[in-house]
Amino acid sequence: MKTELPILGRESALTVHRYPRRNNETLQAFDAADEYLIEHASAWVLRANARILIINDQFGALSCWASQQGFDVIQASDSIIAQRATIDNITQNQLPSITQLTSMDPFPSGIDAVIMRVPKNNKMLTWQLQQLASITDENTLVLAGAKAKEIHTSTLNQFEHWLGTTTTSLAKKKARLIFSTPNGQPLKTNDPMSYVDVPDFSMRLANWPNVFSAKKLDIAAYLMLPHIPSHSSLKRIVDLGCGNGVLAVQAARNNPEAFIHAIDESHMAIASANRNLKTHGIDPDRFLCEASDCLTDFKHQDVDLVLCNPPFHQQQAITDHIAWQMFCDAKRVLTTNGALLVIGNRHLGYHTKLKRLFGNASVVASNKKFVILKAVNA
Ligand SMILES: C[S@@+](CC[C@H](N)C(=O)[O-])C[C@H]1O[C@@H](n2cnc3c(N)ncnc32)[C@H](O)[C@@H]1O
Repeated sequence: MKTELPILGRESALTVHRYPRRNNETLQAFDAADEYLIEHASAWVLRANARILIINDQFGALSCWASQQGFDVIQASDSIIAQRATIDNITQNQLPSITQLTSMDPFPSGIDAVIMRVPKNNKMLTWQLQQLASITDENTLVLAGAKAKEIHTSTLNQFEHWLGTTTTSLAKKKARLIFSTPNGQPLKTNDPMSYVDVPDFSMRLANWPNVFSAKKLDIAAYLMLPHIPSHSSLKRIVDLGCGNGVLAVQAARNNPEAFIHAIDESHMAIASANRNLKTHGIDPDRFLCEASDCLTDFKHQDVDLVLCNPPFHQQQAITDHIAWQMFCDAKRVLTTNGALLVIGNRHLGYHTKLKRLFGNASVVASNKKFVILKAVNA
């Protein structure tokens, strides 16, 4: 697995790792789109200390490059994993520090150039472009890139609509670039929120654009809802990978004595869960929503119940290592006899994983596609 990102005109390459670092990592921390973006931006002639806004950097390759060039780098990201990866990679390469903004912060003004990884999620792209429209003008360089197969005519139309004249590059190593010249005329903006109704459970969930399943309740979450326990012994409950907080809301309702922790690596998920817990009448003294890579920063070890509908993607890659990390972290924070309740596709084989880790795993419910499993911390 390659960690050296060659930089034109520099003798030494940048070393870029994914986060968290894993032994025997098979996935790379940068891809052809990052390389193409860097190659193109290397030809820019910018003033000293130019302010560069980097949006959706995956593990910090773009930010490291811009920092190495001596630019004033502002990175905007929805992912705490991307942010942590960037800090580690900046430190490892002994580069000047950068400013990090979350996806909930407004983009700053006075930007000379923008480098953007096109987000997969169309609603997120709209939200980011409409914000860009308000801070750019014809003097701002706007460069975006992605895998060629992720750039559609509709993607280009969005850039054209929100910013101005837009062209694209040829594909190179299956990556493509987008060039826009902002016309500095912000348009009427759209509401970034999507709402999901769950009438059986009297819920209306608000979702910031980058939230998982923001337009439709995830089927696995829906199947999990009736199996969330209600018991006076449940005092501390974690919704791990909470998304919009659908499981956290139901857990809080079922267990009025319990304190609820909603954890996700997406800042927009955390903002949505926070809002949804509040709007569903849960007292803010009873819950905490925090961005974290699984339970890395979690200090409690007296958790009675962990609810988990694990992800099987990291950035663009399909992987089950996050589910495994979530199960290991759950085991670490559960009290004796505390339980982990997991839902997953049958074919993911969570049963075997939980048995290996906990020594037990029982089926709570199942259908043709999904299975809900419970593992108890003995
Ligand atoms: C399948 S979704 C489940 C969302 C929600 N609980 C539901 O049931 O609809 C998985 C969630 O895990 C989050 N996630 C992915 N990697 C994570 C990590 N390393 N740490 C914490 N959350 C993560 C994703 O952002 C996503 O919201």
